[in-house]
Amino acid sequence: MTIRLGDIAPNFNAPTTEGEIDFHEWKKGRWAVLFSHPKDFTPVCTTELGYTAKLKADFEKRNVKAIGLSVDSVEDHRKWTKDIERTQGCEMNFPMIGDADRKVANLYDMIHPNASDTLTVRSVFIIDPNNKVRLTLTYPASTGRNFDEVLRVIDSLQLTDGYKVATPVNWKNGDDVIIVPSVSNEDAKKLFPNGWDEKTPYLRVTKQPKVG
Ligand code: BEZ
Repeated sequence: MTIRLGDIAPNFNAPTTEGEIDFHEWKKGRWAVLFSHPKDFTPVCTTELGYTAKLKADFEKRNVKAIGLSVDSVEDHRKWTKDIERTQGCEMNFPMIGDADRKVANLYDMIHPNASDTLTVRSVFIIDPNNKVRLTLTYPASTGRNFDEVLRVIDSLQLTDGYKVATPVNWKNGDDVIIVPSVSNEDAKKLFPNGWDEKTPYLRVTKQPKVG
């Protein structure tokens, strides 16, 4: 099943390192970052999981819960946790789904057979409080993801949900933003009373309305 932007993230029940969960219940009212890694006890995955644990406060600030997944068992995740904590200097503070039967991996199309028949690729799904999928990312096994980029996308999504703006290339929270083309100049005067820099009629740059 292909999951596309705007789709409702499929619900599932699964065992995790923090007990059995119903995914929609677990994330109720919050954003979620659901991400898969290829295999426990592997080096790149160890760094990714450790870094994600260190982002706990950044996720909390944005009302986000993180949850990992691989086709290993919860028992293996628990054993591996000790290595992650020791080598990455963190405390694991989010659940990892044990998906040995590949139920969730198949539901979210996380196994790409031409990359590997058996292992999940590095998928990321950002899911909003209404359970809508807002971002999908797929990375190969050999390339660790940039979880600061995941936070940056969440900042952009939360900002652009609230204001009629879009965020430009390499935008970071606090940088100038773009007034969406569907807003007329007349309406923009009311929405952006501090004005904008009109580089072309469709490229109008303004201060970020909310810095958080
Ligand atoms: C890793 O996490 O280091 C890894 C996992 C699977 C294949 C290659 C690298």
